[in-house]
Amino acid sequence: MHKIDIELVEMTLDVMKYTIDRLTATNTKIGKPKKEEELKALVGETVTKAGIGGEVAFKLWKKYLMKATVSIDHPRHLAFVPASPTRAAIMFDLVTSASSIHGAYWMEGAGGIFCENEAMRWIVSLTGLPDGAFGVFTSGGTAANLSAIVTAREYWRKDDTYKREKGLIITSFGAHSSIKAMAKVADVDILLVESEEKLTGDDLRKTIDGLTFHQRKRLFAVVATGGTTNAGIIDDLTGIAEVCEKEKLWFHVDAAYGGGALIADSVRHLFNGIERADSITIDPHKWMFSPYDCGAVIYKKPELAKEAHSQEGSYLDIFKDEGAHGFNPTDYQIQLTRRVRGLPLWFSLAMHGTDKYKQAVERGIELTQIAGKLIEDMPHVELVREPNLSCVLYRRIGWKPEDYTHWTYENHKKGFALVTPTKWKTTDGFETVSRFCFINPDTTKQDIKAILESMK
Ligand SMILES: Cc1ncc(COP(=O)(O)O)c(C=O)c1O
Repeated sequence: MHKIDIELVEMTLDVMKYTIDRLTATNTKIGKPKKEEELKALVGETVTKAGIGGEVAFKLWKKYLMKATVSIDHPRHLAFVPASPTRAAIMFDLVTSASSIHGAYWMEGAGGIFCENEAMRWIVSLTGLPDGAFGVFTSGGTAANLSAIVTAREYWRKDDTYKREKGLIITSFGAHSSIKAMAKVADVDILLVESEEKLTGDDLRKTIDGLTFHQRKRLFAVVATGGTTNAGIIDDLTGIAEVCEKEKLWFHVDAAYGGGALIADSVRHLFNGIERADSITIDPHKWMFSPYDCGAVIYKKPELAKEAHSQEGSYLDIFKDEGAHGFNPTDYQIQLTRRVRGLPLWFSLAMHGTDKYKQAVERGIELTQIAGKLIEDMPHVELVREPNLSCVLYRRIGWKPEDYTHWTYENHKKGFALVTPTKWKTTDGFETVSRFCFINPDTTKQDIKAILESMK
């Protein structure tokens, strides 16, 4: 298994050929899942005592299994938050794997961590956070949000008054599901401001004023969103920052999806106030064109994260010794052993320069405006609200929820597009609507038009 032989060399060439084909493909199939029983019937037993051989396994992958995955970078994949990693970043993901780097401690991962930090400095510079702010790459937005919530909670509990209290966080209905899920992991309660529209400083003020004495004592953090997943709405970050500062609350901004747009001049002003955050989540695997998985958590005062997350163990003492001195990413988030997952982003940034990133993000925003205009011009569809960032919510006039579901499956089955329905909160309940989210700069006006026409 660990020997070098002709089979290994041939397999390496096969893998490289596959990678080159995939990287240079311009007509990637969108791919669709099959039931597990169907896949099992197609591929049979793959893990056996003697092994089925690399050639056979790879053939099964190419013939059946790869086709049962959705290519998230397909230009007509506009569901959820799609992705569109740069080819340079994908290539360097291979290099990252081939280099066998342990990315937890400087002593082992110095060169890789150095590159990650170069990329991180650029991301931090986009936020406008003060000197001293810094961050680390995580497995995604969920892990970044959890790392930030735990840091905030530990900081709050430094004060003995709160040692035995269960913490409470305020966020909005529009906040991502991971905030609610991670609050559960951190064993803190969540209070939702019941609107899916922009959360304002006034909303927050009123919510705090409505708390009981004990709830107010338990409140330690506010989570605002810098681009809601459903609608691309950016909360009133300045107003929320003001309230947080006055009330001495930790201010976290979840910009996992929207954070990439910090580089776009056309919308940067909407993020004003983010520079006053205590922590920020930004996912490079969303709008910074990194391959999965790559999130990031940034702290105004990284030393607070270190107090919360730094692991102790006799076997780890060497990493903290003077001789092993350097930046240890493990100290700032929940994970110990970690891939240097910021490395593909660094290479792509170094190769292309940040201007190209600006252009690619601006293109996503432009596509959103194009989609909005097409929807206004077509009689069978209408906008649910003005598009925000790169999200468009629209309805097919006369459709019931099941029509949207059926249409989604039909388009996916045909290998034409993947656009999924969502729900939009109204004053009297929820309306099922359709949603576009643009990330891939290769999506065309024609793609959008064809998708809208398929709703006729
Ligand atoms: C605003 C927001 N926060 C957090 C997340 C979770 O990120 P991840 O899926 O990388 O864990 C998402 C994912 O779409 C998101 O849109």
